Amino acid sequence: MARMKKLPLLGGMTPAMFLRDYWQKKPLLVRQAIPGFAPILSADALFSLAAQEEVEARLIRCHRRRWELQHGPFDRLPAPTEKNWTLLVQSANLHDDEADRLLQQFRFLPDSRLDDLMISYATDGGGVGPHVDSYDVFLLQAQGQRRWRISAQTDLSLVDGLPLKILRNFQAETEYVLEAGDMLYLPPHYAHEGVAIGTCQTYSIGFRAPAYQELGEAFLQFMADAIDLPGRYADPDLKPTTHPAMIDAGMLDRVEEALQNVRFTRDDVTLFMGEYLSEPKASVTFAPPARPLAPARFAQAAAKRGLRLPARTRMLYRGQHVFINGESFRMQAADRPLLTALANARRVEAGDLADVPSDVAEALHLWYADGWLLLG
Ligand code: SIN
Ligand code: CO
Repeated sequence: MARMKKLPLLGGMTPAMFLRDYWQKKPLLVRQAIPGFAPILSADALFSLAAQEEVEARLIRCHRRRWELQHGPFDRLPAPTEKNWTLLVQSANLHDDEADRLLQQFRFLPDSRLDDLMISYATDGGGVGPHVDSYDVFLLQAQGQRRWRISAQTDLSLVDGLPLKILRNFQAETEYVLEAGDMLYLPPHYAHEGVAIGTCQTYSIGFRAPAYQELGEAFLQFMADAIDLPGRYADPDLKPTTHPAMIDAGMLDRVEEALQNVRFTRDDVTLFMGEYLSEPKASVTFAPPARPLAPARFAQAAAKRGLRLPARTRMLYRGQHVFINGESFRMQAADRPLLTALANARRVEAGDLADVPSDVAEALHLWYADGWLLLG
C-alpha cells in the first residue's frame, strides 16, 4: 500500500509521518521530490488552455508596486520576453490526463480534500506578491527557478485597494530557491512570496477546506428539500385583540415548537457532504457519447474493455451511499465491491464487469450516457 511506503515525494517520509509532523502545521521543503520533473504542458499548450472559455485563467502583472489582474480567456498574452508577468491556469488536471496523473500521486490524502492543479507560468521577476492562501498547497517547481520567501508571521493585514490580496507587512524569515523537481509544502495561512528567476513554471497542488459559513448555507438549502413538517398553524383558542398589529406570544410559542421538529441526522449530513463534495466546479462540462450504446451493448462492451472515470468526474462514497458529480445513489450490499473499487481506483478492469448487479448496471449505463464514465 502506498500509504505505508517512504516516498521521495515527501522527502523520504511515509504519508503518516508527513501528516503527523507537517500537514496543517509547518512548511516542508523537499529537494527533488520528483526527480527529473518537467512541465507536462508546453508553454504553447498552456497558453491555448488559457484561451479557452471554460478554463479559469488569470494574468497578473506588476510594475513599480502597481498590481494588475486580468481574467481570461486570453487570446493574447504579453511576449515571453517581457518581464514581470504571471499566467495562472486553474484545474489543469481537468484538461490534461497526465496532469491528472500527477494529482493521483497525492491520493494518500482523501479526494474530499484534493482540489486541483494550478499551473503558473512566469517571466523573470514575475509573481503574485506576498500573500497567504486559505488552503494547504504543494508548490512543485516544473521549469526554471523560483525564489520562495516564507514567513510564520501572524500579521496578515492586507494592502488596501488592490485587485490582489497582498500582505502589507511581509517579513520573510526563510528563503529557498527551487529548481525543477523541488517542492515546497505550505500549510494554510503561511505567508509566502514566489518570484521567478528567469522564465519559470510552478505547479500548485491545492487542497480544499470549505468555510463553515459556506457549508452551513449549503446545508440549509439541502435541508429545505429534506425537512418534513406536517400540519398547519391553528389557533382554536384565539382571543379578541385590541392591538391587531402585534404578533402575539401564543403564535410564536406554537411556531417555535413546530420548528423544534426541524432535525437532522448523521445520514442527512452524509448525504449533504457527499453531494456537496462531489459537485463539479461550475465551469466543468461533460461530453456525453454522440451515439451512446444501448444498455445491453454497453454492458458487453464494458465486460470487454473495462470502465474508467474521466478526470472531471468526482466520485466518493460512505456507508450505503455513493456520490457522483453531485448526485447520490444508494448501494445494496452486493453493489458495494464494484462501486467502491471504481471510486477508489477510478477504473474497473474488464474481468470484474462480467456479473454486475442489475441496479448497478443501470446506474453505470446512465453515468456513461451522461459522459461521467468512459469505456476502456
Ligand atoms: C504562483 O505559482 O505563482 C503562485 C502560487 C502561490 O503562491 O500559491
Ligand atoms: Co500562494
